[in-house]
Amino acid sequence: MARTASKTYRIGVLTSGHGRGSNLKAMHEYFKENGLPVEISLVVITQNDSPVKALCQELDLYWELIPVINMPLFEERLNTLKRELNLDLIALAGFMRLLSQDFITGVGIPILNIHPALLPRFGGKGMYGMRVHEAVFSSSESVSGASIHIVDPIYDHGKITMQESVDISKCKSPFDIAAAVLQVEHRIYAPAIYNYLTLINT
Ligand code: GRF
Repeated sequence: MARTASKTYRIGVLTSGHGRGSNLKAMHEYFKENGLPVEISLVVITQNDSPVKALCQELDLYWELIPVINMPLFEERLNTLKRELNLDLIALAGFMRLLSQDFITGVGIPILNIHPALLPRFGGKGMYGMRVHEAVFSSSESVSGASIHIVDPIYDHGKITMQESVDISKCKSPFDIAAAVLQVEHRIYAPAIYNYLTLINT
């Protein structure tokens, strides 16, 4: 469908239980600072004590708590919110559960994820958080990076839409790698989302 001049894209962002929400904050700032027609219309938190709740209050973003204990119920609520809020895209930022094929097909909008390594390496089940950077560190890589990919029902598996690498040859620990990669994440996720929205709406 062709995008009308006045269209503002509306996205939902799914965060993790105790995630920092730093990617959420970076994308919010990028869309604002660049005057892009992208609104973060929904932030999903999965635990009541998520730090992202305070961040949403600070940034004035609408958030909703949807527990992931029962994934069919989670997906049902998210589907309802997608319809009610008229979302154009869902972006995972730290969200760690698999979404079902039925949900992915049925929701009818793209779902993107960010992974803190250069997929297809260092991805898959169990590869999240510091585990990724520890694996990269142990394999003596001189380069890591971040990947944005389309979500399918396999961990870190869908088509890659954007990647950027970073030199980690001087990193002395997995924590150094995590810090270097996080800067890349913050730089690429919002443009990747905007580019993808533009691509599928032209
Ligand atoms: C990021 O490293 C992202 O790549 C991964 O989860 C982390 C979320 O961090 N999927 P934050 O909550 O956005 O700070």
